Amino acid sequence: MQTVVSGIRPTGNLHLGNYFGAIRSFLQMQEEYNCFFFIADWHSLTTHPHPDNLRQNVKTILSEYLACGVDPEKSTIYVQSDIRQIPELYLYLNMNAYIGELERVTSFKEKVRQNPNNVNAGLLTYPTLMATDIIIHHADKVPVGKDQEQNMEMARLFARRFNRIYGVEYFKEPASFSMSDKALKVPGLDGSGKMGKSTGNAIYLIDDEATIRKKVMKAVTDSGPTRMNQEKPEVIQNLFTLMEIVSEPSTLEYFNEKWNTCEIRYGDMKKQLAADINAWCTPIRERILDIQNNEEYLKKVVRIGAEKASASAERTLQDVREIIGFHR
Ligand code: TYM
Repeated sequence: MQTVVSGIRPTGNLHLGNYFGAIRSFLQMQEEYNCFFFIADWHSLTTHPHPDNLRQNVKTILSEYLACGVDPEKSTIYVQSDIRQIPELYLYLNMNAYIGELERVTSFKEKVRQNPNNVNAGLLTYPTLMATDIIIHHADKVPVGKDQEQNMEMARLFARRFNRIYGVEYFKEPASFSMSDKALKVPGLDGSGKMGKSTGNAIYLIDDEATIRKKVMKAVTDSGPTRMNQEKPEVIQNLFTLMEIVSEPSTLEYFNEKWNTCEIRYGDMKKQLAADINAWCTPIRERILDIQNNEEYLKKVVRIGAEKASASAERTLQDVREIIGFHR
């Protein structure tokens, strides 16, 4: 059976981008593959979270995973920091990761630009840690959104390089996986870029109905089409992309038609979009609220997940130590 690995950083609540970029694939893949889904708490340290926030955010993401339907009976669900073999493999991979290639990673360069006072070594080696997460379980497939493509290339590079240096065929090259034919980028509501926690343009799975309505009604638009069948500018395309994700095809078709004939009223479209997002989010939100109070259950899930993921990681590390040449 093929193996799947994926993770999400615990830096706040899950939003529609996380769901449609990653979790939706988790749900499908857990039916057919040997899946490892984890909470990437070590990755989140690059931004120095307060211990209380880190603790709370791990619990939040775990509750949200479960509320979405990620199933501990089918998948191994764990917290990254419970797997002590990860830092060991990370150290080995870092020995063969070069500063120049790490500095060229686009997301690193972006972070440096945004936060010139926090260019730490963890940020630079983020791709080695992510590669470790993936190859430690010999993943064949990694369900991720479009924004992770460069990190995936680095993971393949580090796996290949390890094999080459030690003259082995040990690590597989993991493939990115997306449910649609190409990797998905869920747009934000501010007219530019992707939906993200740090950009303030996100709809969270935990948002209540009124909040969602308010956010959607405030989404950026323009003054409307002036020609029939006009191409849509990015701000408008974003609304249509969101509608494509959450609404019925006939709803999308209806508003496309209104756009093409210059009869579109953005207010109507937003009302419909908000209603469709709400219809989709409400049952998930209710489950989140239920699960997050069930401390016993959450503890049990991470304990079982830690056992299973550690066993898998330890098998890999025993091979890797042998390959590298450590004495036994
Ligand atoms: P993170 O925590 O930023 O995001 C988690 C997942 O959600 C996807 N995503 C999106 N997809 C489409 N449109 C969007 N607007 C959008 N926003 C977020 C991301 O692509 C991702 O799949 N480096 C990873 C975490 C990680 C990881 C791993 C993932 C650490 N180790 C190993 C896979 C395998 C990250 O920061 O994702």
